[in-house]
Amino acid sequence: MPKYHVTTFGCQMNEHDSERMKGMLESLGYDEAPEQDGADLILFNTCSIREAADTKFAAHLGNAGRVKRENPGTVIGVGGCWAQSVKEEVFEQFPFVDVAFGPGQVHKLAEFLNSDSLTAQGYFEFEGFTGDLPARREREFHGWTQISIGCREVCSYCIVPSTRGREVSRDPNDVIADVAAMAEDGVREITLLGQNVNSYGRSLPKEQRITFAELLREVDAIDGIDRIRYTSPHPKDIKLDVIEAHAELPSLCEHIHLPLQSGSSALLKRMRRTYDRERFTDRVRLIREYVPDISLSTDIIVGFPGETEDDFAETLEVVDETAFDSAFTFNYSPRRGTEAATFEDQVPHEVKRDRMARLVDLVQQHATERAQRFVGRDLEVLVEGRSRKDPDKLRGRTRHNKVVNFNGLAEAGDMTTVKVTSATSQTLAGEEPLLARALA
Ligand code: SAH
Ligand code: SF4
Ligand code: F3S
Repeated sequence: MPKYHVTTFGCQMNEHDSERMKGMLESLGYDEAPEQDGADLILFNTCSIREAADTKFAAHLGNAGRVKRENPGTVIGVGGCWAQSVKEEVFEQFPFVDVAFGPGQVHKLAEFLNSDSLTAQGYFEFEGFTGDLPARREREFHGWTQISIGCREVCSYCIVPSTRGREVSRDPNDVIADVAAMAEDGVREITLLGQNVNSYGRSLPKEQRITFAELLREVDAIDGIDRIRYTSPHPKDIKLDVIEAHAELPSLCEHIHLPLQSGSSALLKRMRRTYDRERFTDRVRLIREYVPDISLSTDIIVGFPGETEDDFAETLEVVDETAFDSAFTFNYSPRRGTEAATFEDQVPHEVKRDRMARLVDLVQQHATERAQRFVGRDLEVLVEGRSRKDPDKLRGRTRHNKVVNFNGLAEAGDMTTVKVTSATSQTLAGEEPLLARALA
């Protein structure tokens, strides 16, 4: 059997696309190789969201070049957002690459592998939804499904609209059929993916069109799905119907990832986020009114062009007021082809570094404090397997999206109860009350 190896960078969309690549390759008779050495087909699913993503990938690609020098028959493929952003240039920069394809062209890989000439072919169309590919799930009990591809926003810092194309929503019947098939196959938790899930449906013909809140209700009604998550909502578009859904739908988890980006309205405007500080804090207030125990996470960019000390102070204020359960913090990174990369008032590196350190401190402080509310509680945990750090323990995830390491007897895929005994900013620790009773 020919062997493949896939390295994935970037976000959950890429993780999902890689599962589809793997599923497709296995249906073509390929088997997974544990590392690049020994693989007949070496694939990269790339990201280009920040410069660091590009740099990291280049090092990995170098290693694949070495494997190919040693085994000239090896086929090297580069897919995903970076590939889309450089297109045919990839073959000039890295002559040993045989095939390159954008995020929307995963299915073309099969065409390429079946073609006569396995050299320097590129696939970079935006085709909309192009049929279902079988996915090989990394976590047996968790599935991803894409509800839309591309993005209709024009955030001035962001490369995604150019790498994933215009937003196209997927037919709700296809989403439901996909989730139902996964449920049949043992999936208990599903994550719906879209760059702005709240704009779901807008590109659909009238007779198919439903809102994101309606889609959530339909997915909730599918037998066997115990947990629904989604990413990402957009603060300008998230409305009461979706917030109510969190309060009403049994499977919709008590967690929302609501990207703030900045607490300064002036900066949000330059970012073209089309909401201001008040709108964001109002959404948080509304969410907490309906679901008081919700976990909130966010994304924040530090050092966007023109960010003054006062703008940054506003970000700290919003972080302090909101008390997020966790936050991803990014130094602004100019991206080719984006509006903000041309802004002249770029923030010096040392200033970004200093602000980042202050922000991370505050985020950590709130994350630690917020996590203490779980100590002493019995929480529902979906078991993922053995703990990575301590193989005597099990590892799972709560509905609030907290990782828990715990003593217990459950098996991967079980939904169990864990009594939480301690909490840090990142993880919870605890034990199954059942086990405690058995040992007593
Ligand atoms: N569609 C999602 C975001 C996807 S990108 C949304 O709008 O929320 C994930 C995160 O990467 C963004 O939320 C942003 O915080 C960060 N990001 C995007 N472009 C960036 C850039 N040029 N520099 C630094 N961070 C960036
Ligand atoms: Fe990028 Fe903005 Fe679209 Fe998110 S909403 S993917 S940040 S352009
Ligand atoms: Fe995701 Fe990176 Fe593309 S964050 S959408 S893989 S640029």
